[in-house]
Amino acid sequence: MGDAEQTGAARWWRGGVLYQIYVRSFADSNADGVGDLPGITSRLDHLQWLGVDGIWLSPITVSPDDDWGYDVADYCDVQPVLGDLHDLDELITQARARGIRVLIDLVPNHSSDRHHWFVDARTSRRARHREWYVWADPREDGSPPNNWVSIFGGPAWELDTKTGQYYLHNFLSSQPDLNWWNEEVRGAFDEILRFWLDRGVAGFRIDVAHGIVKDAELRDNPPAGPDDPEAVRRLGQHQVYNMNRVEAHDVLCRFRRVSDPYAPNGVLMGETWAPDITRFAAYFGTGEDELHLAFNFPYALAPLDAGELRGIVEATEAAIGAIGWPAWTLSNHDIGRFPSRVCKGDEKKTRAALLALLALRGTPVLYFGDEIGMPDTAVGVEQRRDPAGRDGGRTPMHWNAEAGAGFTEPDVEPWLPLGDASARNVEGQRHDARSLMSLSRDLIALRRELPDLREASYASLPSPSGVWAWRRGESVTVAVNLSEQTAALEGIAGEIRMGTERARNGERVGDRLSLGPWEGVIVSSARTTS
Ligand code: NOJ
Repeated sequence: MGDAEQTGAARWWRGGVLYQIYVRSFADSNADGVGDLPGITSRLDHLQWLGVDGIWLSPITVSPDDDWGYDVADYCDVQPVLGDLHDLDELITQARARGIRVLIDLVPNHSSDRHHWFVDARTSRRARHREWYVWADPREDGSPPNNWVSIFGGPAWELDTKTGQYYLHNFLSSQPDLNWWNEEVRGAFDEILRFWLDRGVAGFRIDVAHGIVKDAELRDNPPAGPDDPEAVRRLGQHQVYNMNRVEAHDVLCRFRRVSDPYAPNGVLMGETWAPDITRFAAYFGTGEDELHLAFNFPYALAPLDAGELRGIVEATEAAIGAIGWPAWTLSNHDIGRFPSRVCKGDEKKTRAALLALLALRGTPVLYFGDEIGMPDTAVGVEQRRDPAGRDGGRTPMHWNAEAGAGFTEPDVEPWLPLGDASARNVEGQRHDARSLMSLSRDLIALRRELPDLREASYASLPSPSGVWAWRRGESVTVAVNLSEQTAALEGIAGEIRMGTERARNGERVGDRLSLGPWEGVIVSSARTTS
């Protein structure tokens, strides 16, 4: 292999599109109502048809499922209800044969309280694994060591009555935070990374990448003020000392040092909730020594508003420069599905949002079901399984309109309600050239075809109010009208290669581009061979 090819392979994630699979809800191969690894393998044809380059699997490791896999009891084995290591090997092999790489979720911030490290740690203050977790004495009045609060509510500290100290949990009390100041913890994770890379995974989505290391002095967080963003006010404090510490970068760089020589094509993709864009940008390090990809959450949570989205993308581009490569997403298992959350079920808006997502500089990450515009499912309180109530975006995939939705057998009760699979499903959209799923596929194919759309720089273009337009490199222009009014842009010439209204594909634009309400287009001035 020549140098150029090597570089191309090593940077596959830059040109590619990733697809997140919430494993329990994708495809159930053994009729127990829960999706599993063989189920994913059985649906690889769909992913190949769609054209994705890699899949990210939500946690597949052993867990009591207090937080659905994000509470790990064994980092090096598969949760039995999802399959076993052999099933993973098979999935990796079958996916590779279709040109699809497999990333898994890595949860280094905390383990389950049923992990043997923690079971041992709480036996005594001198236990072998005691210092693998964050322990501190009560304050004089017996209250927690500082004012940190858990993301899930309440104090981030739990008193361990047997040993008389509190342990830290930034999430559930059954998710004790690991102590990343401890060299043994670092060493243990080096081995965990190697274990999975040896099995052929192409990399990791790193859970809570922004929070791994805590302030060594456990200082109090400053209180929220009335003018702070909603997320800060909700917690009542700025997470200055328990999240986004500069020391987290050491750990992420260490992951990179382990992974790079070992798996030169590997990718580290961080869950990076940062309070500002400067701190977000820092997760790329020098561009060569830290995360390959970092999730841009301001974009994911923004309304479908031209000014807001343009502002976020411009700020991101300015902060990360040429070195950083964001991961853009609109849906996931925490924030729910964009067709509901952002587009309120409106098909035109869903198409426009999808076109924009797939035309940014960076790697788009689709959430399973995004390709058909799957909405959130209403999940009644009595049917909820998640402690934080995020179930609506986690319900099973709609493969067809039959009972069981193609997810499971007709007579099997799925672990979460199916929702209305007759409205939108894979089978129904597959042979409809005007469907959202065909648009998804064709947008992915166009990224592959046009190098500028795939890799080139981003530059905003002047545009009328309600419209967001940008260039990608020399030859591609993207414009989305995110308003109810028709709009026109001057100075754009080329061929419409993809429009949310498919009828416009192939149309030549001389100089003036008109757009209907919520219409988006990708125009290329590059010569086409066909
Ligand atoms: C982020 C994960 O995406 C979320 O589902 C989980 O609850 C927390 N991290 C804790 O692991």
